Amino acid sequence: MKKSEAISLAKEKLPDRRYQHSCRVADTAVQMAEIFGANEKKCFLAGMLHDYAKYDDLKDMHKIVKKYHMDPEYLQYKSEILHGPIAAHIMKTEYGVTDADVLYAMENHTSGRSNMTLVEKIVYVADYIEPKREIPGVKGIRKVVFSDKNLDKAVFLITKANLLHLISKDRMIFSRTIECYNYYNRVKE
Ligand SMILES: [Fe+2]
Ligand SMILES: [Fe+2]
Repeated sequence: MKKSEAISLAKEKLPDRRYQHSCRVADTAVQMAEIFGANEKKCFLAGMLHDYAKYDDLKDMHKIVKKYHMDPEYLQYKSEILHGPIAAHIMKTEYGVTDADVLYAMENHTSGRSNMTLVEKIVYVADYIEPKREIPGVKGIRKVVFSDKNLDKAVFLITKANLLHLISKDRMIFSRTIECYNYYNRVKE
């Protein structure tokens, strides 16, 4: 897929605020690709399209999970987890995206997982640190990325923050997120 096609798809589908976020994630991911030696185009495409399914109907998303025999654990979750895997599914089946790096990055940006690919980690982190994010602690994570250049540590800190947030709200934790936390806890230094 060409970059211009990804831009048009995101622009047509998403509300302006979410489209602008997608552009910032794509740009941040490209910046990070340069630092960490990843493929810039893959980072751009996955960044631009990661939230493509963000506002899709939950029932439709669950139908897709069942029809295509996707991970049944998805059925216990709403859009917060599902919009990544569903975006990857739509891009693969309707728009001919075949690149595994791009598909994995879209799929797992909502949950993380253990042992992510470089492109996956970049999109996961870029989504959290794009310039307009004002989450507590985000400045420290930007420093870990752009000054310390420690991508695994950034993945760990983001996953930890997400877990603490979810637990504080009594929310369920997707099992791949716990695996992500444990894995990057081990490899972060
Ligand atoms: Fe997202
Ligand atoms: Fe996002």
